[in-house]
Amino acid sequence: MSFKRTLVTSALPYANGPVHIGHLAGVYVPADIYVRYLRLKGEEVLFVGGSDEHGVPITIRAKKEGITSQDVVDRYHSLIKKSFEGFGISFDVYSRTTSKTHHQLASDFFRKLYEKGEFIEKTSEQYYDEEARQFLADRYITGECPHCHADGAYGDQCEKCGTSLSPLDLINPKSAISGSKPVLRETKHWYLPLDKHEGWLREWILENHKEWRSNVYGQCKSWLDLGLQPRAVSRDLDWGIPVPVEGAEGKVLYVWFDAPIGYISNTKELCDAQPEKFGNWETWWKDDETRLIHFIGKDNIVFHCIVFPSMLKADGSYILPDNVPSNEFLNLEGDKISTSRNWAVWLNEYLVDFPEKQDTLRYVLTANAPETKDNDFTWRDFQARNNSELVAIYGNFINRALVLTQKYFEGVVPELGELTDYDKETLAEFADVKTRLEQLLDNFKFRDAQKEAMNLARIGNKYLADTEPWKLAKTDMARTATILHIGLQIAANLAIAFEPFLPFSSQKLRTMLNLKSFNWANLGQIDLLTAGEKLGTPELLFEKIEDAIIEAQLQKLADTKKANEVAEYKPAAIKENTTIDEFDKNDIRVGTVLECSRVPKADKLLQFKIDDGMGGRTIVSGIAQSYPEPEKLVGMQVCFIANFPPRKLKGVESQGMILSAVDADGKLVLIQPSRTVKNGSQVG
Ligand code: 2FM
Ligand code: ZN
Repeated sequence: MSFKRTLVTSALPYANGPVHIGHLAGVYVPADIYVRYLRLKGEEVLFVGGSDEHGVPITIRAKKEGITSQDVVDRYHSLIKKSFEGFGISFDVYSRTTSKTHHQLASDFFRKLYEKGEFIEKTSEQYYDEEARQFLADRYITGECPHCHADGAYGDQCEKCGTSLSPLDLINPKSAISGSKPVLRETKHWYLPLDKHEGWLREWILENHKEWRSNVYGQCKSWLDLGLQPRAVSRDLDWGIPVPVEGAEGKVLYVWFDAPIGYISNTKELCDAQPEKFGNWETWWKDDETRLIHFIGKDNIVFHCIVFPSMLKADGSYILPDNVPSNEFLNLEGDKISTSRNWAVWLNEYLVDFPEKQDTLRYVLTANAPETKDNDFTWRDFQARNNSELVAIYGNFINRALVLTQKYFEGVVPELGELTDYDKETLAEFADVKTRLEQLLDNFKFRDAQKEAMNLARIGNKYLADTEPWKLAKTDMARTATILHIGLQIAANLAIAFEPFLPFSSQKLRTMLNLKSFNWANLGQIDLLTAGEKLGTPELLFEKIEDAIIEAQLQKLADTKKANEVAEYKPAAIKENTTIDEFDKNDIRVGTVLECSRVPKADKLLQFKIDDGMGGRTIVSGIAQSYPEPEKLVGMQVCFIANFPPRKLKGVESQGMILSAVDADGKLVLIQPSRTVKNGSQVG
């Protein structure tokens, strides 16, 4: 099948929080690379994005903050949109599912399927909150997980053990709205009978799309092999698009029904506003010569490969996706990224902390793209890739080529003289970069493609290092001219090859080179710049990132970890019963620290000299790791058990035990009286 145009969609992020590096690596960076590549080739392409503004999590957030759902989505839609713009994600349209166009189109979509008899109506029992007088969405019901027995599992999933649940599985279910015990009540919903679609889906995916990534193909196959079930496409909720049929009061379209239709609505909104530029929306969605590609994360596979295609097929007038390049997940410093635990690098914060470094993050996310397996982002790797790849290879090469041209030829492209064998070898090496890049990009192998572009920079860097024009300039200006001419042609090629990956740097380089030939077809050519042309002013393409900057980011994460540990702290179980008589056997006293120092060769022990009101005593305590500056404890009152028999610890006799509490992070904290008391006072 040959296609005339490509429609690229990227998953609509929920407008209930900012976008993080996991979203970027999984969806938006690869989609943007692909679209920029097609545009550079001069192909007809449309890149559609937008915010997903319905669904229960948004209503939960609104309730928590005491604002409306509309307030929540307004806030995050603009934040996300602005962050994407700042990061160079080049959407043709970024709209939202609360738009009028979308409400209308999604309603019409549902009604058409309803009228065609593509749904089944079913009444079932669902949890209802009698106090709040509403049905409870899965996320609004919490209870004990039947698998790991953790408390606070949601009706659709236990976040502790990751098991998918149905609300009826929960032990001791509770309404998250009123806290009351929900009751079962009958309610009617519309279902998309996926089982009826199974036949053609099997053939379409399993037979005709064997080229899909193995993670996508594999997930689809296991869903299909398990047998598809009808799926409810409506919910009892007051936030969303009302189900447009009679008798559906209080019911809205399920968010996963309306969200993918958002791709269509957003296309329509753009085309209706600028038909001369973008044409008719239906051409993008209904013409067989349009190739539709969905970029998504792996948790969205079933919706984009099975549910949405079934909806499109049920309508009958739409094309189906040609490919669904889904990525796996990106972790952060070895832990799963989590919005609720604030374990993420948020795009809006990154853009504030690194205002000129969009390309560094784009580079690192692509270099570590989770294309075939989950991958990890670490700040140290971020720094290393910036400093030893972008700065030391690409940036260094460009800087040398431009600065030397400035120095020896006043910034004018020098003449190309006779080529040596080494020149010819170098040129031959990069002649087929274009074909190699195309092969990779056409197959959504962005990680390898970026490596290939970097390889070109390596070739350039090596060429200058081997030919040493700065030495030759003293003796052979003609040869120096040829070398720099070749160097500048490689630089021009790099500006093009890297544009899809590092658009900000490519733009900068293009200006520095004053490069007019700038499209994909030029790639691999060595006449992109003409001798005699004046270059722009050289600037550094990338800058080194110092350790302190990375340490600040690591500290931010360490603070988050600590806050999470505290928030998730569960006190230890109560010990067996004791008696007052038993307790009274411990003689607990108050004393003042006179001296405190580390016990040599023991990293856990501190040695205290205590004024106990009875002539003083020495106590050795295992709290050195919680108090790295022991001298600061001098003068502090502490509590200690005074009647333990003396014992030797690392050669020091300890006469008692100092009392401390164990904090959520495992640190020991000394127990002190709330005001100064006489040394030797008894505690009881
Ligand atoms: O998983 C998510 O973040 C969803 N909001 C993706 C929706 S994609 C599309 F269907 F809109
Ligand atoms: Zn569980």
